[in-house]
Amino acid sequence: MKGNFKYHNPTKLYFGEEAMSHLADELKNYGPVVMLSYGGGSIKKNGIYDAVVAALKSAGKTVVEDSGVMPNPTIEKVREGARLARENNVDLILAVGGGSTIDYAKGVSVSAWCDEDPWEKYWVRQECPECRIVPVGSVLTMVGTGSEMNAGSVITSRSTGFKRGRVFGSDVIPKFAILNPRFTFTVPQYQMVAGFFDIMSHLMEQYFAGTADCTTDYINEGLMRSLIHSTLIAAKNPHDYEARANIMWTATWALNTLLKCGKGGDWEVHQIGHAIGLVTDATHGMTLASVSLPYYRHVMHDGLHQFVRFAKNVWGVRPEGKSDEQVALEGLSCLEAWMKEIGVVMHSRELGVTEENIPAVADATLLLPVGYRTLTRDEVIEILKESL
Ligand code: NZQ
Ligand code: ZN
Repeated sequence: MKGNFKYHNPTKLYFGEEAMSHLADELKNYGPVVMLSYGGGSIKKNGIYDAVVAALKSAGKTVVEDSGVMPNPTIEKVREGARLARENNVDLILAVGGGSTIDYAKGVSVSAWCDEDPWEKYWVRQECPECRIVPVGSVLTMVGTGSEMNAGSVITSRSTGFKRGRVFGSDVIPKFAILNPRFTFTVPQYQMVAGFFDIMSHLMEQYFAGTADCTTDYINEGLMRSLIHSTLIAAKNPHDYEARANIMWTATWALNTLLKCGKGGDWEVHQIGHAIGLVTDATHGMTLASVSLPYYRHVMHDGLHQFVRFAKNVWGVRPEGKSDEQVALEGLSCLEAWMKEIGVVMHSRELGVTEENIPAVADATLLLPVGYRTLTRDEVIEILKESL
Protein backbone atom coordinates (compact mmCIF):
# COMPACT_ATOMS: atom_id res chain seq x y z
CA MET A 1 0.00 0.00 0.00
CA LYS A 2 1.33 3.44 -0.91
CA GLY A 3 0.33 7.00 -0.18
CA ASN A 4 -0.71 8.93 2.90
CA PHE A 5 -4.23 9.36 4.14
CA LYS A 6 -6.39 10.49 7.00
CA TYR A 7 -9.36 8.40 8.02
CA HIS A 8 -11.89 10.06 10.29
CA ASN A 9 -15.55 9.19 10.31
CA PRO A 10 -17.54 10.57 13.24
CA THR A 11 -21.02 9.18 12.41
CA LYS A 12 -22.55 7.20 15.26
CA LEU A 13 -24.51 4.24 13.88
CA TYR A 14 -27.45 2.46 15.48
CA PHE A 15 -28.06 -0.70 13.48
CA GLY A 16 -30.77 -3.37 13.58
CA GLU A 17 -34.43 -3.86 14.37
CA GLU A 18 -34.06 -2.07 17.70
CA ALA A 19 -32.18 0.91 16.26
CA MET A 20 -35.11 3.31 16.46
CA SER A 21 -35.40 2.85 20.22
CA HIS A 22 -32.21 4.95 20.57
CA LEU A 23 -33.51 7.99 18.70
CA ALA A 24 -35.18 9.79 21.62
CA ASP A 25 -32.03 9.51 23.76
CA GLU A 26 -29.80 10.57 20.90
CA LEU A 27 -31.97 13.66 20.30
CA LYS A 28 -31.25 14.83 23.82
CA ASN A 29 -27.74 15.76 22.64
CA TYR A 30 -29.18 18.61 20.58
CA GLY A 31 -31.11 21.83 21.23
CA PRO A 32 -34.88 22.16 21.38
CA VAL A 33 -35.80 22.87 17.75
CA VAL A 34 -35.60 20.05 15.19
CA MET A 35 -36.33 20.40 11.50
CA LEU A 36 -37.88 17.16 10.27
CA SER A 37 -36.98 16.80 6.59
CA TYR A 38 -38.49 14.10 4.41
CA GLY A 39 -39.54 13.29 0.88
CA GLY A 40 -42.78 12.74 -0.95
CA GLY A 41 -44.68 11.00 1.80
CA SER A 42 -43.69 7.31 1.79
CA ILE A 43 -42.80 7.62 5.49
CA LYS A 44 -46.39 8.59 6.27
CA LYS A 45 -47.67 5.41 4.60
CA ASN A 46 -45.26 2.95 6.19
CA GLY A 47 -45.41 4.25 9.76
CA ILE A 48 -41.84 5.57 10.01
CA TYR A 49 -43.10 9.15 10.30
CA ASP A 50 -45.23 8.25 13.36
CA ALA A 51 -42.32 6.48 15.03
CA VAL A 52 -40.00 9.46 14.44
CA VAL A 53 -42.56 11.98 15.69
CA ALA A 54 -43.10 9.87 18.82
CA ALA A 55 -39.35 9.96 19.52
CA LEU A 56 -39.24 13.72 18.92
CA LYS A 57 -42.15 14.24 21.32
CA SER A 58 -40.67 12.04 23.99
CA ALA A 59 -37.43 14.03 23.73
CA GLY A 60 -39.48 17.25 24.17
CA LYS A 61 -38.58 18.80 20.82
CA THR A 62 -40.33 21.52 18.86
CA VAL A 63 -40.71 20.18 15.34
CA VAL A 64 -40.38 22.24 12.17
CA GLU A 65 -41.94 20.24 9.31
CA ASP A 66 -40.02 20.24 6.04
CA SER A 67 -41.52 17.86 3.47
CA GLY A 68 -41.39 17.35 -0.28
CA VAL A 69 -37.70 16.66 -0.85
CA MET A 70 -37.67 15.20 -4.36
CA PRO A 71 -35.43 12.45 -5.76
CA ASN A 72 -32.43 14.24 -7.31
CA PRO A 73 -32.95 17.23 -5.00
CA THR A 74 -32.68 20.70 -6.47
CA ILE A 75 -30.83 23.80 -5.32
CA GLU A 76 -34.16 25.67 -5.29
CA LYS A 77 -35.42 23.23 -2.66
CA VAL A 78 -32.16 23.63 -0.69
CA ARG A 79 -32.60 27.43 -0.70
CA GLU A 80 -36.17 27.03 0.54
CA GLY A 81 -35.08 24.66 3.32
CA ALA A 82 -32.22 26.97 4.30
CA ARG A 83 -34.68 29.84 4.76
CA LEU A 84 -36.92 27.65 6.91
CA ALA A 85 -33.99 26.46 9.04
CA ARG A 86 -32.72 30.00 9.57
CA GLU A 87 -36.14 31.51 10.33
CA ASN A 88 -36.75 28.88 12.98
CA ASN A 89 -33.16 28.85 14.25
CA VAL A 90 -33.16 25.04 14.16
CA ASP A 91 -30.70 23.07 16.29
CA LEU A 92 -30.77 19.86 14.28
CA ILE A 93 -31.95 18.71 10.87
CA LEU A 94 -33.36 15.19 11.10
CA ALA A 95 -33.41 13.72 7.60
CA VAL A 96 -35.77 10.77 7.27
CA GLY A 97 -35.46 9.12 3.88
CA GLY A 98 -32.96 8.00 1.28
CA GLY A 99 -29.90 9.65 -0.21
CA SER A 100 -31.90 12.51 -1.70
CA THR A 101 -33.28 13.64 1.66
CA ILE A 102 -29.95 13.25 3.46
CA ASP A 103 -27.97 14.99 0.69
CA TYR A 104 -30.52 17.80 0.77
CA ALA A 105 -30.24 18.08 4.56
CA LYS A 106 -26.46 18.51 4.25
CA GLY A 107 -27.07 21.22 1.67
CA VAL A 108 -29.44 23.01 4.04
CA SER A 109 -27.03 22.52 6.93
CA VAL A 110 -24.29 24.57 5.23
CA SER A 111 -26.63 27.05 3.54
CA ALA A 112 -28.91 28.16 6.41
CA TRP A 113 -26.37 30.64 7.80
CA CYS A 114 -24.43 31.27 4.59
CA ASP A 115 -24.87 34.74 3.11
CA GLU A 116 -23.48 33.83 -0.30
CA ASP A 117 -25.33 31.86 -2.96
CA PRO A 118 -24.91 28.20 -1.92
CA TRP A 119 -24.94 26.78 -5.47
CA GLU A 120 -22.07 29.01 -6.59
CA LYS A 121 -20.11 28.64 -3.36
CA TYR A 122 -20.43 24.94 -2.61
CA TRP A 123 -21.24 23.12 -5.84
CA VAL A 124 -19.56 25.34 -8.47
CA ARG A 125 -16.52 26.77 -6.64
CA GLN A 126 -16.43 23.76 -4.25
CA GLU A 127 -15.52 25.97 -1.29
CA CYS A 128 -15.77 24.97 2.36
CA PRO A 129 -18.43 26.42 4.64
CA GLU A 130 -17.29 29.35 6.77
CA CYS A 131 -20.61 29.87 8.51
CA ARG A 132 -22.39 28.07 11.35
CA ILE A 133 -23.20 24.50 10.28
CA VAL A 134 -26.49 23.04 11.49
CA PRO A 135 -25.94 19.42 12.57
CA VAL A 136 -27.67 16.65 10.59
CA GLY A 137 -28.96 13.31 11.88
CA SER A 138 -30.61 10.64 9.77
CA VAL A 139 -33.10 7.81 9.78
CA LEU A 140 -32.37 5.82 6.63
CA THR A 141 -35.30 4.37 4.68
CA MET A 142 -33.69 3.48 1.34
CA VAL A 143 -30.31 1.84 0.90
CA GLY A 144 -27.71 2.68 -1.72
CA THR A 145 -25.97 6.02 -1.58
CA GLY A 146 -24.06 5.75 1.71
CA SER A 147 -25.13 9.33 2.42
CA GLU A 148 -25.91 8.30 6.01
CA MET A 149 -22.19 8.05 6.79
CA ASN A 150 -20.51 10.35 4.33
CA ALA A 151 -20.19 14.05 3.62
CA GLY A 152 -21.37 13.88 0.02
CA SER A 153 -24.22 16.03 -1.22
CA VAL A 154 -25.40 15.73 -4.82
CA ILE A 155 -27.62 18.61 -5.92
CA THR A 156 -29.23 19.50 -9.25
CA SER A 157 -29.46 23.00 -10.71
CA ARG A 158 -31.81 22.83 -13.68
CA SER A 159 -31.39 26.53 -14.45
CA THR A 160 -27.63 26.16 -14.98
CA GLY A 161 -27.84 22.62 -16.37
CA PHE A 162 -25.75 20.67 -13.87
CA LYS A 163 -26.16 17.86 -11.38
CA ARG A 164 -23.10 18.16 -9.16
CA GLY A 165 -21.74 16.22 -6.24
CA ARG A 166 -19.43 17.55 -3.62
CA VAL A 167 -17.85 16.12 -0.52
CA PHE A 168 -17.84 18.37 2.52
CA GLY A 169 -15.65 17.88 5.60
CA SER A 170 -16.34 15.66 8.58
CA ASP A 171 -18.27 18.54 10.21
CA VAL A 172 -21.07 17.98 7.67
CA ILE A 173 -21.28 14.17 7.92
CA PRO A 174 -24.47 13.10 9.74
CA LYS A 175 -23.82 13.01 13.48
CA PHE A 176 -25.81 9.80 13.79
CA ALA A 177 -27.75 7.38 11.62
CA ILE A 178 -30.57 5.03 12.52
CA LEU A 179 -30.28 1.94 10.32
CA ASN A 180 -33.17 -0.49 10.60
CA PRO A 181 -33.19 -2.87 7.60
CA ARG A 182 -36.91 -3.45 8.11
CA PHE A 183 -37.56 0.22 7.25
CA THR A 184 -36.43 -0.56 3.71
CA PHE A 185 -39.00 -3.31 3.12
CA THR A 186 -41.55 -0.91 1.58
CA VAL A 187 -39.11 0.47 -1.02
CA PRO A 188 -40.55 -0.45 -4.46
CA GLN A 189 -38.62 -3.22 -6.31
CA TYR A 190 -37.35 -0.80 -8.99
CA GLN A 191 -35.89 1.59 -6.42
CA MET A 192 -34.53 -1.29 -4.37
CA VAL A 193 -32.51 -2.81 -7.19
CA ALA A 194 -31.40 0.63 -8.34
CA GLY A 195 -29.95 1.01 -4.85
CA PHE A 196 -28.26 -2.39 -5.15
CA PHE A 197 -26.52 -1.30 -8.31
CA ASP A 198 -25.58 2.05 -6.80
CA ILE A 199 -23.73 0.17 -4.05
CA MET A 200 -21.93 -2.03 -6.59
CA SER A 201 -21.03 1.06 -8.57
CA HIS A 202 -19.53 2.76 -5.50
CA LEU A 203 -17.44 -0.34 -4.90
CA MET A 204 -16.29 -0.51 -8.53
CA GLU A 205 -15.58 3.22 -8.83
CA GLN A 206 -13.08 2.88 -6.00
CA TYR A 207 -11.75 -0.53 -7.03
CA PHE A 208 -10.88 0.43 -10.60
CA ALA A 209 -8.07 2.82 -9.75
CA GLY A 210 -4.42 2.49 -8.83
CA THR A 211 -1.86 -0.23 -9.40
CA ALA A 212 -0.46 -0.98 -5.92
CA ASP A 213 -1.22 -4.08 -3.88
CA CYS A 214 -3.52 -2.49 -1.33
CA THR A 215 -5.44 -3.91 1.66
CA THR A 216 -8.30 -1.59 0.77
CA ASP A 217 -8.93 -3.59 -2.42
CA TYR A 218 -9.20 -6.84 -0.44
CA ILE A 219 -11.82 -5.24 1.83
CA ASN A 220 -13.61 -4.01 -1.29
CA GLU A 221 -13.62 -7.51 -2.83
CA GLY A 222 -15.17 -8.92 0.35
CA LEU A 223 -17.91 -6.29 0.23
CA MET A 224 -18.57 -6.99 -3.45
CA ARG A 225 -18.89 -10.72 -2.81
CA SER A 226 -21.25 -10.18 0.11
CA LEU A 227 -23.30 -7.74 -1.97
CA ILE A 228 -23.59 -10.12 -4.94
CA HIS A 229 -24.63 -12.96 -2.63
CA SER A 230 -27.25 -10.98 -0.70
CA THR A 231 -28.71 -9.09 -3.66
CA LEU A 232 -29.43 -12.33 -5.50
CA ILE A 233 -31.47 -13.40 -2.46
CA ALA A 234 -33.16 -10.04 -1.86
CA ALA A 235 -34.10 -9.45 -5.51
CA LYS A 236 -36.23 -12.60 -5.31
CA ASN A 237 -37.39 -12.16 -1.74
CA PRO A 238 -37.21 -8.51 -0.65
CA HIS A 239 -38.46 -9.45 2.82
CA ASP A 240 -35.43 -11.62 3.59
CA TYR A 241 -34.22 -9.67 6.62
CA GLU A 242 -30.75 -11.19 6.69
CA ALA A 243 -30.06 -10.30 3.07
CA ARG A 244 -31.48 -6.77 3.42
CA ALA A 245 -29.45 -6.22 6.59
CA ASN A 246 -26.24 -7.33 4.89
CA ILE A 247 -26.95 -5.05 1.96
CA MET A 248 -27.63 -2.10 4.25
CA TRP A 249 -24.37 -2.63 6.09
CA THR A 250 -22.43 -3.07 2.85
CA ALA A 251 -23.89 0.14 1.42
CA THR A 252 -22.75 2.14 4.41
CA TRP A 253 -19.17 0.85 4.14
CA ALA A 254 -19.14 1.15 0.37
CA LEU A 255 -19.04 4.92 0.54
CA ASN A 256 -17.83 6.24 3.86
CA THR A 257 -14.24 6.96 2.68
CA LEU A 258 -12.79 3.64 3.94
CA LEU A 259 -12.43 2.27 0.42
CA LYS A 260 -10.38 5.15 -0.88
CA CYS A 261 -7.74 4.82 1.82
CA GLY A 262 -4.33 4.37 0.22
CA LYS A 263 -5.64 4.69 -3.31
CA GLY A 264 -7.60 6.98 -5.60
CA GLY A 265 -10.90 6.39 -7.34
CA ASP A 266 -12.40 6.65 -10.80
CA TRP A 267 -15.99 8.08 -10.53
CA GLU A 268 -16.48 8.60 -14.28
CA VAL A 269 -19.51 6.28 -14.35
CA HIS A 270 -21.09 8.56 -11.77
CA GLN A 271 -20.31 11.64 -13.86
CA ILE A 272 -22.07 10.17 -16.89
CA GLY A 273 -24.88 8.93 -14.61
CA HIS A 274 -25.36 12.39 -13.11
CA ALA A 275 -25.56 13.90 -16.60
CA ILE A 276 -28.22 11.36 -17.60
CA GLY A 277 -30.03 12.18 -14.34
CA LEU A 278 -29.92 15.87 -15.16
CA VAL A 279 -31.35 15.40 -18.66
CA THR A 280 -33.94 12.68 -17.88
CA ASP A 281 -34.50 12.87 -14.08
CA ALA A 282 -33.99 9.07 -14.05
CA THR A 283 -33.32 7.09 -10.87
CA HIS A 284 -29.65 7.42 -9.90
CA GLY A 285 -28.74 3.72 -9.64
CA MET A 286 -30.34 2.93 -12.99
CA THR A 287 -28.38 5.67 -14.74
CA LEU A 288 -25.20 3.99 -13.52
CA ALA A 289 -26.39 0.52 -14.53
CA SER A 290 -27.19 1.65 -18.05
CA VAL A 291 -23.66 2.90 -18.82
CA SER A 292 -21.38 0.74 -16.68
CA LEU A 293 -20.77 -2.14 -19.09
CA PRO A 294 -20.02 0.03 -22.14
CA TYR A 295 -17.80 2.22 -19.94
CA TYR A 296 -15.82 -0.65 -18.42
CA ARG A 297 -15.39 -2.40 -21.77
CA HIS A 298 -14.09 0.92 -23.11
CA VAL A 299 -11.45 1.50 -20.38
CA MET A 300 -10.61 -2.14 -19.66
CA HIS A 301 -7.32 -2.18 -21.57
CA ASP A 302 -6.01 0.83 -19.62
CA GLY A 303 -6.33 -0.99 -16.29
CA LEU A 304 -6.20 -4.59 -17.46
CA HIS A 305 -4.44 -5.96 -14.35
CA GLN A 306 -7.31 -4.77 -12.12
CA PHE A 307 -10.01 -6.11 -14.43
CA VAL A 308 -8.25 -9.49 -14.35
CA ARG A 309 -8.14 -9.32 -10.55
CA PHE A 310 -11.85 -8.38 -10.47
CA ALA A 311 -12.72 -11.40 -12.61
CA LYS A 312 -10.69 -13.82 -10.48
CA ASN A 313 -11.29 -12.53 -6.95
CA VAL A 314 -14.85 -11.28 -7.21
CA TRP A 315 -16.43 -13.64 -9.75
CA GLY A 316 -14.23 -16.70 -9.41
CA VAL A 317 -13.17 -16.76 -13.08
CA ARG A 318 -10.51 -19.45 -13.71
CA PRO A 319 -7.58 -17.98 -15.68
CA GLU A 320 -5.99 -21.23 -16.92
CA GLY A 321 -5.43 -21.29 -20.66
CA LYS A 322 -6.88 -17.81 -21.16
CA SER A 323 -5.32 -14.48 -22.07
CA ASP A 324 -5.63 -11.56 -19.61
CA GLU A 325 -8.09 -9.95 -21.99
CA GLN A 326 -10.28 -13.05 -22.05
CA VAL A 327 -10.25 -13.29 -18.24
CA ALA A 328 -11.14 -9.60 -17.87
CA LEU A 329 -13.98 -9.86 -20.40
CA GLU A 330 -15.31 -12.94 -18.64
CA GLY A 331 -15.41 -10.96 -15.38
CA LEU A 332 -17.47 -8.25 -17.08
CA SER A 333 -19.79 -10.94 -18.50
CA CYS A 334 -20.34 -12.20 -14.94
CA LEU A 335 -21.17 -8.64 -13.88
CA GLU A 336 -23.64 -8.44 -16.77
CA ALA A 337 -25.32 -11.73 -15.79
CA TRP A 338 -25.70 -10.55 -12.17
CA MET A 339 -27.18 -7.24 -13.33
CA LYS A 340 -29.73 -9.06 -15.48
CA GLU A 341 -30.60 -11.41 -12.66
CA ILE A 342 -31.30 -8.67 -10.11
CA GLY A 343 -33.22 -6.75 -12.79
CA VAL A 344 -31.52 -3.40 -13.38
CA VAL A 345 -32.00 -1.25 -16.48
CA MET A 346 -29.52 -2.43 -19.11
CA HIS A 347 -30.15 0.26 -21.76
CA SER A 348 -30.10 4.01 -21.32
CA ARG A 349 -32.91 4.46 -23.86
CA GLU A 350 -35.25 2.96 -21.23
CA LEU A 351 -34.40 6.02 -19.10
CA GLY A 352 -35.07 8.55 -21.84
CA VAL A 353 -31.63 8.86 -23.46
CA THR A 354 -31.94 9.25 -27.24
CA GLU A 355 -29.65 9.88 -30.21
CA GLU A 356 -30.94 13.47 -30.06
CA ASN A 357 -30.17 14.22 -26.40
CA ILE A 358 -26.81 12.39 -26.23
CA PRO A 359 -24.88 15.63 -27.02
CA ALA A 360 -26.64 17.34 -24.09
CA VAL A 361 -25.73 14.45 -21.77
CA ALA A 362 -22.12 14.58 -23.00
CA ASP A 363 -21.97 18.35 -22.44
CA ALA A 364 -23.14 17.91 -18.84
CA THR A 365 -20.62 15.13 -18.12
CA LEU A 366 -17.62 16.14 -16.04
CA LEU A 367 -14.43 14.53 -17.43
CA LEU A 368 -12.35 13.49 -14.44
CA PRO A 369 -8.59 12.97 -14.86
CA VAL A 370 -8.31 10.29 -12.17
CA GLY A 371 -9.32 6.84 -13.47
CA TYR A 372 -7.37 4.51 -15.75
CA ARG A 373 -8.32 6.70 -18.69
CA THR A 374 -9.43 10.31 -18.99
CA LEU A 375 -12.29 10.34 -21.44
CA THR A 376 -12.83 12.91 -24.16
CA ARG A 377 -16.29 14.23 -25.01
CA ASP A 378 -16.25 12.06 -28.16
CA GLU A 379 -15.58 8.96 -26.06
CA VAL A 380 -18.50 9.83 -23.76
CA ILE A 381 -20.70 10.05 -26.85
CA GLU A 382 -19.39 6.68 -28.06
CA ILE A 383 -20.15 5.09 -24.65
CA LEU A 384 -23.61 6.64 -24.53
CA LYS A 385 -24.41 5.37 -28.05
CA GLU A 386 -23.24 1.95 -26.98
CA SER A 387 -25.50 2.16 -23.91
CA LEU A 388 -28.69 2.84 -25.90
O1 NZQ B 1 -39.79 10.75 -1.47
P1 NZQ B 1 -40.09 9.57 -0.66
O2 NZQ B 1 -41.48 9.46 -0.24
O3 NZQ B 1 -39.12 9.41 0.49
O4 NZQ B 1 -39.89 8.27 -1.61
C1 NZQ B 1 -38.61 7.82 -2.01
C2 NZQ B 1 -38.23 8.18 -3.44
O5 NZQ B 1 -39.38 8.25 -4.26
C3 NZQ B 1 -38.64 6.32 -2.07
N1 NZQ B 1 -38.43 5.70 -0.75
C4 NZQ B 1 -37.38 5.89 0.08
N2 NZQ B 1 -37.52 5.10 1.16
C5 NZQ B 1 -38.70 4.43 1.01
C6 NZQ B 1 -39.27 4.82 -0.21
N3 NZQ B 1 -40.45 4.31 -0.65
C7 NZQ B 1 -41.07 3.42 0.14
N4 NZQ B 1 -40.56 2.98 1.31
C8 NZQ B 1 -39.37 3.45 1.78
N5 NZQ B 1 -38.87 2.98 2.92
O6 NZQ B 1 -37.57 5.97 -2.92
C9 NZQ B 1 -37.43 6.99 -3.91
C10 NZQ B 1 -35.97 7.28 -4.10
O7 NZQ B 1 -35.43 7.90 -2.94
P2 NZQ B 1 -34.03 8.66 -3.05
O8 NZQ B 1 -33.70 9.20 -1.73
O9 NZQ B 1 -34.07 9.59 -4.22
O10 NZQ B 1 -33.04 7.46 -3.45
P3 NZQ B 1 -31.51 7.27 -3.20
O11 NZQ B 1 -31.26 6.87 -1.80
O12 NZQ B 1 -31.03 6.39 -4.27
O13 NZQ B 1 -30.86 8.73 -3.40
C11 NZQ B 1 -30.53 9.21 -4.68
C12 NZQ B 1 -29.82 10.55 -4.61
O14 NZQ B 1 -28.57 10.45 -3.88
C13 NZQ B 1 -27.50 10.92 -4.73
C14 NZQ B 1 -28.02 10.65 -6.10
O15 NZQ B 1 -27.34 11.35 -7.10
C15 NZQ B 1 -29.47 11.04 -5.99
O16 NZQ B 1 -29.62 12.43 -6.10
N6 NZQ B 1 -26.22 10.30 -4.33
C16 NZQ B 1 -25.65 10.66 -3.17
C17 NZQ B 1 -24.41 10.19 -2.80
C18 NZQ B 1 -23.72 10.59 -1.55
N7 NZQ B 1 -24.31 11.38 -0.69
O17 NZQ B 1 -22.60 10.20 -1.31
C19 NZQ B 1 -23.62 9.30 -3.66
C20 NZQ B 1 -24.44 8.62 -4.69
O18 NZQ B 1 -23.58 8.18 -5.69
C21 NZQ B 1 -25.51 9.47 -5.29
O19 NZQ B 1 -25.01 10.30 -6.29
ZN1 ZN C 1 -24.03 6.47 -6.52
